[in-house]
Amino acid sequence: MSQIERVRTVFNEWAENGRAEGMELGHGPTAIQAFDLLALAPGQRYLDIGCGNGYTLRWAAERCRDAEIWGVDVSPKMISLAQDMDASGAGIRYLCGQFPHPEIPPNYFDAIFSMEVFHYMPAIESGLEAQRR
Ligand SMILES: C[S@@+](CC[C@H](N)C(=O)[O-])C[C@H]1O[C@@H](n2cnc3c(N)ncnc32)[C@H](O)[C@@H]1O
Repeated sequence: MSQIERVRTVFNEWAENGRAEGMELGHGPTAIQAFDLLALAPGQRYLDIGCGNGYTLRWAAERCRDAEIWGVDVSPKMISLAQDMDASGAGIRYLCGQFPHPEIPPNYFDAIFSMEVFHYMPAIESGLEAQRR
């Protein structure tokens, strides 16, 4: 099994046994500080890489209703959890797959967030370079 397949398997299990909500609770107090520093403004484009249960996507939708909001996660169960928890009506775009992801356009986003994800990537340098683009 490849590294990314192992990551997908682990986080599918976490999504099924309630650990995504545990991560939201545990990461939330730190994540909100970083999220606020992004100062997402109306009409801006926001991406969360490795969005888990999608809590920052919902923050973006609550605080900035006109933002274009995207979340990507390699775990289909995390993506489905994030979709189930989304009552925002903000048209959040959910992508299931590994980042870098072919449907994510380069030079497109105003703000990018990621919490505890890059160290799971098979090649962190190329992941960081894709995030810079
Ligand atoms: C430790 S969890 C953090 C989830 C969320 N950011 C949070 O703070 O709760 C890591 C997440 O990153 C996802 N992930 C790991 N490597 C990824 C990759 N290369 N592309 C997309 N998602 C990835 C996992 O499926 C998992 O949902």
